Amino acid sequence: MEIIRSAAEMRSRAKYFKRSGRRIGFVPTMGALHEGHLSLMRLARTRSGVLVTSVFVNPSQFGSNEDLEAYPRDFARDEALCRKERVDVLFAPGPEDVYASDHSTWVEETSLSAGLCGAARPGHFRGVCTVVAKLFNLVRPDVAVFGEKDAQQLRVVERMVRDLGFPVQILRGPIVREPDGLAMSSRNRLLSPRERRDALCLRRALTRAEALTADGERSAAVLREAMEGEIRSVSGASIDYVALVDDVSLKPVERVEGPTLAALAVRFGATRLIDNVVLEA
Ligand code: PAJ
Repeated sequence: MEIIRSAAEMRSRAKYFKRSGRRIGFVPTMGALHEGHLSLMRLARTRSGVLVTSVFVNPSQFGSNEDLEAYPRDFARDEALCRKERVDVLFAPGPEDVYASDHSTWVEETSLSAGLCGAARPGHFRGVCTVVAKLFNLVRPDVAVFGEKDAQQLRVVERMVRDLGFPVQILRGPIVREPDGLAMSSRNRLLSPRERRDALCLRRALTRAEALTADGERSAAVLREAMEGEIRSVSGASIDYVALVDDVSLKPVERVEGPTLAALAVRFGATRLIDNVVLEA
């Protein structure tokens, strides 16, 4: 496995792969890798001849009051996991390699980014789109894999790729969960044992919404109330949002008629977790 630290070197490596006719698969991450990330690498590997993973904790997608400093970092472990997954190139640039000191160009998606995490974290998706666009330009992937765990991010990236004509195919990777149902997340390691137990209310809330929908419930208000009830039953949980939105437009729905994304963001102490499920009528 090759470890590349500089943008210029990544660019010339990608050029070489292209010239030799190899299909480049790409999985961008912020490190602190877990099975969720590894599942995306395995999916990318089935669709490409050379697999590139990036590890970059992107400062521009964190708000000034957010956990950029506290975000877990463990490069030695990430490197070992990437080797085990037979990653060909681990691209791990420093902030100054991605953002010049006078960086002044931003990529902004303005519709799908408006609600949910976009409303709760102003500027977040501008940071995500800008770094993903830049990484695509450096890595030049034919196929890139993003996880359903970050459902809104996935849809925003798909929209950006369509609207700006990036020559890359985006694949969706299913959510990987712990045996007890908690969605894997780099932030899970920041939870205390108590918070880790409390966090199971996320899965309970989504399972409840799925069961009610299967029983014929269609009212978004009723489903949201049921999900909020599951979360409120845990004293350490504080709701950021509980939403039912159209799976394509991400606009709030009143009734579950087509594919509907049930999405939630909940804080446990200082740690904010998200999870979601797509409900089918
Ligand atoms: P990060 O949170 O490290 O996630 C990297 C990728 O792994 C994302 O596509 C995310 O959806 C996926 N992922 C995380 N947990 C998952 C799980 N439990 N199951 C399946 N996939 C999972 O998302 C980011 O980094 C950043 O915003 C990034 C896209 C790298 C831009 O900085």
